[in-house]
Amino acid sequence: MCGIVAYIGPKDATPFLLEGLQRLEYRGYDSAGVAVTGKGAGLKLRKAKGRVADLAATVPARFKGSTGIGHTRWATHGEPSDANAHPHLDNAGRFAVVHNGIIENADQLRARLTAEGAVFASETDTEVLVHLIAAHSAEGTDLEEAVRSSLALVVGTYGIAVLDAEQPDRIVVARNGSPIVLGIGEKEMFVASDVAALVRYTRQVVHLEDGELAVIRAEGFRTFTEDARPTTRQPSTVDWEIDSYDTAGHAHFLVKEIHEQPAAVERTLSGRLDERFATAHLGGLNMDARELRDIRRVKIIGCGSAYYAGQMGAQLIEELARIPADSEPASEFRYRNPVIEADTLYVAVSQSGETYDTLAAVQEVKRKGGRVLGVVNTVGSAIARACDGGIYLHAGPEISVASTKAFTSTVVAFALLALHFGRINDLSPADGRRIVEGLKALPGQIREILEQEKEIAELAAEYANCQGMMFIGRVRGYPVAREGAQKLKEISYVHAEAYPASELKHGPLALISPELPTVALVPDDELLDKNLTTLGEIRARAGRVLAIAHRAPDPKLANHSVLVPRNEPELDPLLLNIPLQLLAYHAAVALERDVDKPRNLAKSVTVE
Ligand code: G6P
Repeated sequence: MCGIVAYIGPKDATPFLLEGLQRLEYRGYDSAGVAVTGKGAGLKLRKAKGRVADLAATVPARFKGSTGIGHTRWATHGEPSDANAHPHLDNAGRFAVVHNGIIENADQLRARLTAEGAVFASETDTEVLVHLIAAHSAEGTDLEEAVRSSLALVVGTYGIAVLDAEQPDRIVVARNGSPIVLGIGEKEMFVASDVAALVRYTRQVVHLEDGELAVIRAEGFRTFTEDARPTTRQPSTVDWEIDSYDTAGHAHFLVKEIHEQPAAVERTLSGRLDERFATAHLGGLNMDARELRDIRRVKIIGCGSAYYAGQMGAQLIEELARIPADSEPASEFRYRNPVIEADTLYVAVSQSGETYDTLAAVQEVKRKGGRVLGVVNTVGSAIARACDGGIYLHAGPEISVASTKAFTSTVVAFALLALHFGRINDLSPADGRRIVEGLKALPGQIREILEQEKEIAELAAEYANCQGMMFIGRVRGYPVAREGAQKLKEISYVHAEAYPASELKHGPLALISPELPTVALVPDDELLDKNLTTLGEIRARAGRVLAIAHRAPDPKLANHSVLVPRNEPELDPLLLNIPLQLLAYHAAVALERDVDKPRNLAKSVTVE
């Protein structure tokens, strides 16, 4: 959430800053700004409410400076506006700061700095940082020293980059809870809050640790702790492909990522299926069979789509391993003083590996002595590092705010975990083989569903103008309904509600009318008859039904049907979800929404 970029080297910083910000726009997109400096050049600043393209339009051709920082914002303190956009400057216009995170004691610091004469130009918490740095910069003070002593007074989370017009040969960056990545070039250095902004320029990167700072110069960098002890950081090589960050001919990242799912699932499964013992190999769990046998309960935590993927994961674990499992929003879990049990395995789910609520929940479990595994897409991310072990998704970068391929890969990762667990407990070799074969069939079956895109797009256009939509599913179908409703809400802004099909008659049936169609998950399983009865109840009240099914229900029970191939009953939810992604996407397109950057949202929410 919020994107940060910085450049120092022989070239003009602005082109990299603007391009980098565009690549990070998915992290926040309500306002943006850049500041550059150079030898004897003073500080130049441009900020604008709106998208990075709006900012770029205001930057003059002669906006020269070989040292620069930039930011794209997702508002927390103060509305999106030119004044609240970053970078923020001190009153003398010497320092500029960009910040990602939240300064919790901003009010106290603001009062103190105001009393000392600082004049604030914005409502942001960030602005206290720049006034603090100015206040700590007596004659001749190194920028790193001023930043370090300022941060010592700050409570909260931050990734920051700081520019000083009087020391234009350096940029100081710091990380505490919000990612900062250094990119190493040839006699030039880059900084970003995410490698997405860097891969076009360098593959050599250093991820700062929490509590670490760095001084960046064109020739290199130096890292150190908050109390000035030097640290040694070896660069690593980014292996994600550059074209992952382009729409590659697709109209949006979202539809590109939907179509990448067969390949993403193949990568999640790659090297992890053990046909001989009909189980899964999961080298990163850091737990042997004996330790896993002692687990009596599994608690899954995550936010948004990660939480819903966790619900599907909990069902897989209960069904295949017969271990009680449930999923809870990490944002709730962390605040309810959870009881942490020694024989419970905690599993944190996160595409980005940055979501602050999920990270805080992991820290809470660990503080109380619990064991946490991560199901994470981003290698080396904060959540991955905070966990005791885990499963990387290898789904590739996900750019669109709404999660699709990471969601699917997460459920596949849970199927692997459930299979592994199950085969250590009581799952028979025959059932293990059944699941191994089912998993192998998934990529091809997802491709089959994606071939129906045209028909689903037509249905989406027909249903998009409704008042709202009801999504229903029973048992395995219920988390699918929840994720389907979430996807539609996020990107099309059509109100959608998910309900267990069994609960419809206990309240929401009152809402059913021709204006509120129902999307019903109707797999051909042991609950089929119950689901068909529910469809009859909806049709009897003039409700319209779109069924996602293995076999088309009688036309009296469903106005339309989308058919998906049959896998194993435990894995069917994964496939039932795919048409719902296409439905949400094409509804959003029909309504001319900004599909990849839905209003008010951001991809990774690194604040509370
Ligand atoms: C945000 C995004 C959601 C996402 C959630 C969790 O709210 O808008 O799409 O599901 O964060 O993200 P994570 O990176 O932890 O999976």
